[in-house]
Amino acid sequence: MSKFSYSVATIVSIFAIFFSGGLCLAFDESGCLTCHQYPGLVSINKDHTLTALHIDAKRYAASAHGRFQCISCHTTIEKVPHTGNRYVDCSTVCHQGKDAKRLPSDYPLSDFHKTEQSFISRLEDKTSCRVCHRLYPHQANNLVRGFLNMHIGFVTCEVCHLKKKKFNGMTYQWHDSENARFSGEPFGTFFNPASRKTKKPMNFISRIAIYATKDGKRQSLANTRDTAAASTFERKQLAMTDKEKTERLRFFHRDIEKKEISVACDQCHSTHSILDYAKLGFDPKKASQLKNLYLKGLVTKYKTFYFPQLFNN
Ligand code: HEC
Ligand code: HEC
Ligand code: HEC
Ligand code: HEC
Ligand code: HEC
Repeated sequence: MSKFSYSVATIVSIFAIFFSGGLCLAFDESGCLTCHQYPGLVSINKDHTLTALHIDAKRYAASAHGRFQCISCHTTIEKVPHTGNRYVDCSTVCHQGKDAKRLPSDYPLSDFHKTEQSFISRLEDKTSCRVCHRLYPHQANNLVRGFLNMHIGFVTCEVCHLKKKKFNGMTYQWHDSENARFSGEPFGTFFNPASRKTKKPMNFISRIAIYATKDGKRQSLANTRDTAAASTFERKQLAMTDKEKTERLRFFHRDIEKKEISVACDQCHSTHSILDYAKLGFDPKKASQLKNLYLKGLVTKYKTFYFPQLFNN
């Protein structure tokens, strides 16, 4: 991973160059919120439990600790990906000495930022992918898994994972709103801005999906046609031989890119984005923000993604 290791100082200078207003916060001199400001940023642990990484700037500022720099407690965070990231020191400024307010030894730390965090806790996605894969499917790469998991609320799996060479006349458009449940505050795009017929319901989210044209008709490439077969596979796989399993999995992934995928961060977050943000209904300010993402260093250096070889054909 050392190839993708950046010092927080580098990130902050990138932040300083690309950041042009809005979020300039006294308590965030280290620029931690450059990355942590986003709702939906979620990391997955080895035991499949989830760690929310979002810190809402306003709620943090209003909290009991809102006037402290992040690093006054998170003293070991120096580079990205961070090392020693769970370590927290509460006694750098406060909670020290006999006279100061001391923390009881059994003080529960794990919910510390809970009221400052939002993420999707449920999404009714009827694709085959979700029969087998978890809501937050990215776990392998600790530099990008948080950001990739965040995108499950923005775009469908196929937008990033499809073997695009197999299809003609592809377009990116809003999929119908899907039922969602949020932990914390609802966020994201709750309605189809193109159709304008819906008010913003609190329990829905709309995502961008990929479509192809076949026989003059627009067709969604989100895979719902294998959903029933995927459920059958899940029920019966214990009784299957390895060879049968591999073959079935190859079938379910026949339209999915394997070893490498063609969509990296800068294929959407750059001026040559595959997504036409204006046409999709994003206002000019947001469109420009998405094209010129502050995380540029991270985004452009992380250009190609290689998957481990799992399916041989
Ligand atoms: C360039 C983006 C970026 C910046 C800047 C950044 N972080 Fe992070 N941080 C991440 C990502 C991504 C993760 C999740 C890594 C993973 O999936 O294991 C993370 C994880 C964490 C975690 C650990 C969560 C856990 O349980 O493992 C803490 C704590 C944290 N960051 C605090 C900070 C603080 C404090 C700063 C500022 C000094 C900071 N971060 C700056 C991207 C960033
Ligand atoms: C007063 C001390 C303190 C300050 C200041 C502080 N944190 Fe934390 N932070 C904690 C504690 C305690 C935890 C929980 C650690 C654990 O679970 O063991 C935590 C956890 C985290 C996590 C991991 C996710 C989670 O909820 O467990 C992230 C990310 C994080 N902090 C980011 C930040 C950022 C960004 C700032 C500044 C805006 C900040 N923290 C300021 C004490 C602090
Ligand atoms: C029948 C279950 C099943 C279905 C349906 C399914 N997957 Fe998978 N997928 C797996 C398993 C098992 C793996 C092996 C890796 C693992 O255990 O995570 C995998 C691996 C992957 C990988 C990693 C491939 C690599 O080269 O490392 C991607 C990407 C992926 N799936 C995406 C999808 C998408 C997108 C869909 C929906 C079109 C989908 N999957 C449908 C079970 C399934
Ligand atoms: C924003 C683009 C994007 C979206 C959306 C996305 N993925 Fe991924 N996915 C990636 C990239 C990039 C990787 C490779 C990460 C790496 O470098 O290891 C990946 C890796 C994976 C892997 C390999 C295992 C792992 O832990 O990384 C699986 C499985 C997977 N994706 C499934 C899915 C499923 C299922 C969905 C839909 C729910 C989905 N992805 C949505 C970009 C995306
Ligand atoms: C397939 C296209 C696609 C890819 C690939 C992609 N993104 Fe995004 N990303 C989006 C879209 C669309 C949004 C905005 C969704 C919305 O606000 O409705 C977004 C939003 C974001 C945001 C929030 C920006 C904001 O101002 O709200 C960040 C940060 C981000 N992406 C980082 C990344 C990183 C890092 C990668 C690579 C690991 C990546 N993205 C890959 C499409 C993509």
